[in-house]
Amino acid sequence: MEPVKIGLLGLGTVGGGTVTVLTRNAREIARRAGRGIEIARAAARDYRPELIEGLDRIGHIGDDAFAVVEDPNIQIVVELIGGYSPALELVMRAIDNGKHVVTANKALIAKHGNEIFAAAREKGVMVGFEAAVAGGIPIIKALREGLAANHIEWIAGIINGTGNFILSEMRDKGRAFADVLAEAQALGYAEADPTFDVEGIDAAHKLTILGSLAFGIPLQFERCFTEGISRIDAQDVANAAELGYRIKHLGIARRSPGGIELRVHPTLIPERRLLANVDGVMNGVLVKGDAVGPTLYYGAGAGALPTASAVVADLVDVTRTLTTDPSNRVPHLAFQPDELADTPVLAMDAIRTSYYLRLTALDRPGVMARIASILGEEGISIEAIKQKAPNKGETQVTLVMLTHRVIEGRMNKAIARIEALDSVQGAVVRIRMESLSG
Ligand code: HSE
Repeated sequence: MEPVKIGLLGLGTVGGGTVTVLTRNAREIARRAGRGIEIARAAARDYRPELIEGLDRIGHIGDDAFAVVEDPNIQIVVELIGGYSPALELVMRAIDNGKHVVTANKALIAKHGNEIFAAAREKGVMVGFEAAVAGGIPIIKALREGLAANHIEWIAGIINGTGNFILSEMRDKGRAFADVLAEAQALGYAEADPTFDVEGIDAAHKLTILGSLAFGIPLQFERCFTEGISRIDAQDVANAAELGYRIKHLGIARRSPGGIELRVHPTLIPERRLLANVDGVMNGVLVKGDAVGPTLYYGAGAGALPTASAVVADLVDVTRTLTTDPSNRVPHLAFQPDELADTPVLAMDAIRTSYYLRLTALDRPGVMARIASILGEEGISIEAIKQKAPNKGETQVTLVMLTHRVIEGRMNKAIARIEALDSVQGAVVRIRMESLSG
């Protein structure tokens, strides 16, 4: 059978990795797909030939991405440019031309996926996006197919390799934030704009996708709460460790009575959980289904070859199903498009979680009692409390508290009241906490 002809947009970290994997494993990939996969054409502005194996096997390399999506010989367009523009225009044009699309672009899918999938349905083409979430981990395949029997209850994932690498190196080696970030950039893990990694935007893109696949709701990136890791203080990392917890930057999607929680933020989790031990650039996604119970997916979340592994898996999938009746293909968002639900994504003050609180208070009688009574009045139950002895000559103490689960709106009110006390200095540090028990 004739090889399927693909057009590659971008030869950067992931594009280069895709060429390398398609070259190295060409024979095995063809045995799986039922035919060869040929890179007939590629478009790239900048690339490093010395990092790419098999560049000479590409039919034609130019710098005009639009020429690739207009080329009638190309059956599958692989978009590895990233960002919104011109990626969106290229993908829509490819679909309009009746081509299938494979992309690693989480920002594009999280923000424009609904319109992209609608256009793809109309044209009867597939859009594969396995590489958009958690690099090489086949989490989209798992959610869409492997867990299809389940009512998914919640997902908690470490889904940004750069952020996890930074937190792990800071904790284990005491390295400076900027230094670790520079290394992540040099290794090709970080986004073009690394604030996307550090401020949680990249994780929010990925969580938006996971939430839709898990609960059958349209993509709603703008409803995802996002808080980054840049304000994590070394003393909170140390306090968490003393209490038996680790701080991880988690994406959490949970089905709650009033709607769906979709939130990315630093989170204390018990150190004995497997997820607490996912370190470095590795990603881990914990999915709780009603039938299967908790399942954990672990692997490299970024990097050339791991991400290429997911891109090529999509290419194999698309190649195998090229001739399948479009209505019999796996739906883009796991649920049939006319079965997507309008379950609301909850505002952050309606979510329920536990908290780690740190505050500085004057060391005098009644202060602790006043703080405890404010928490009590707001219906917040304290799980643990720790007062650090003041240094000699100091009149202030640091208080660390863990609370039981409460609606975030109640906690906001309690924090505002505590911060207004004359005996409390500065802001209360609040880090959300999850037990992640099955
Ligand atoms: N910047 C991303 C990360 C790349 O660090 O996880 C993979 O999406």
